[in-house]
Amino acid sequence: MFGLDAAILMNPKVWEASGHTAGFSDPLVECKKCHKRFRADKISPTPKSDFGVPEVRLRGGDGNEAVRQCPECGGELTEEKQFNMMFKTFIGAVEGTASQIYLRPETAQGIFVNFKNVVDSMHPKLPFGIAQIGKSFRNEITPGDFLFRVREFEQMEIEYFIKPPKNDEDWQTVFEHWRSEIHGWLESIGITAGSLSDFEVPKDDLAHYSKRTIDIFYKYPFGDDEVVGLAYRGDFDLKNHKIDYYDEEPKERFVPHAIEPSFGVDRALLAAFCEAYTEDEMSGGKRVFMKFKPEIAPIKAAVFPLLKNKPELVAKAREVYEMIKKEIQPVVFDDNGNIGKRYRRQDEIGTPYCVTVDFDTLEDNTVTLRDRDTGEQERVKIEELASRLKI
Ligand code: GAP
Repeated sequence: MFGLDAAILMNPKVWEASGHTAGFSDPLVECKKCHKRFRADKISPTPKSDFGVPEVRLRGGDGNEAVRQCPECGGELTEEKQFNMMFKTFIGAVEGTASQIYLRPETAQGIFVNFKNVVDSMHPKLPFGIAQIGKSFRNEITPGDFLFRVREFEQMEIEYFIKPPKNDEDWQTVFEHWRSEIHGWLESIGITAGSLSDFEVPKDDLAHYSKRTIDIFYKYPFGDDEVVGLAYRGDFDLKNHKIDYYDEEPKERFVPHAIEPSFGVDRALLAAFCEAYTEDEMSGGKRVFMKFKPEIAPIKAAVFPLLKNKPELVAKAREVYEMIKKEIQPVVFDDNGNIGKRYRRQDEIGTPYCVTVDFDTLEDNTVTLRDRDTGEQERVKIEELASRLKI
């Protein structure tokens, strides 16, 4: 697997070859009354009666009339128009159609157009992958659901290149391998298998480049929706970019096929947040905390002196803090407010462990180690702390 950091602004011919200029669109409708714009495929076909206006019918070309009305005010909607989601800008000092370029709507094309650079410099043998993490931009008609649908987001994409398959089994095996890798990764960041489901995209709904796509759905609070996509893109992209591969053995030239796991970082983060959010009862009150797996907790441990105004406790706690910091990071030091409040603050941001230095510490070199999930506390020797906190 080779890492890559390709350009965000690329020659617009890249997006012609990939099919984005012609086809990367969503159906747009506008309300004739309030002039708000919506994605037609996201509006409920069931009219709401509480607008106090008659039902509105949206004319479809096929004679199948769908009942649609403005979800905001109940007004009549225009007919659907295709709206290209690529953000446009201009390169150089002259603004005009000749200088118009796009912000990349996916990182994947940067991988395809750099395929030859990677092959020429690294001489990889098939199968191999090229992976990229980076910003993508889409002029979404209706962004929403917090981080779920935004206009500027982070993707993590892999193009895994294989020899042209001789039969379906050849690529299906690789496809299944990546399906299980995706699940494994999502579970590694704390998303339980029961919150995930695989949605096989029906043949008629496949993107223009895809021979098979599975969308991995997470059970978000607003409904099940895609967190990762897995597509078999065949030779669609390299062929359209006129790029091929020379195999030394058996000395032949061909266009490799690509299997693409495509992760949305923001959506994965949101899923990890939803999964970690926990409410329980502690010390007779309601507690809200983030039950992050220690591996992804933003702070791994917090060290407190029991009292802020006892210099000997503060000095000892600083010493313990410096010691732990050498083993795990990030660790924080906090001496603000009463100890209960400090525990709750760390619970809220999902810190798995809190370490408190008290008067006994000065006598016997032990500290209190508190577990975030159970609130249980135990005495631990300072010299054993680092190994107890190892993540
Ligand atoms: N190269 C293939 C591709 O881009 P996609 O299904 O359009 O496929 C891949 O996008 C992933 O990118 C999605 O599964 C999702 O996680 C993320 N993504 C797409 N649009 C997004 C948006 N507007 N906001 C946040 N994440 C988005």
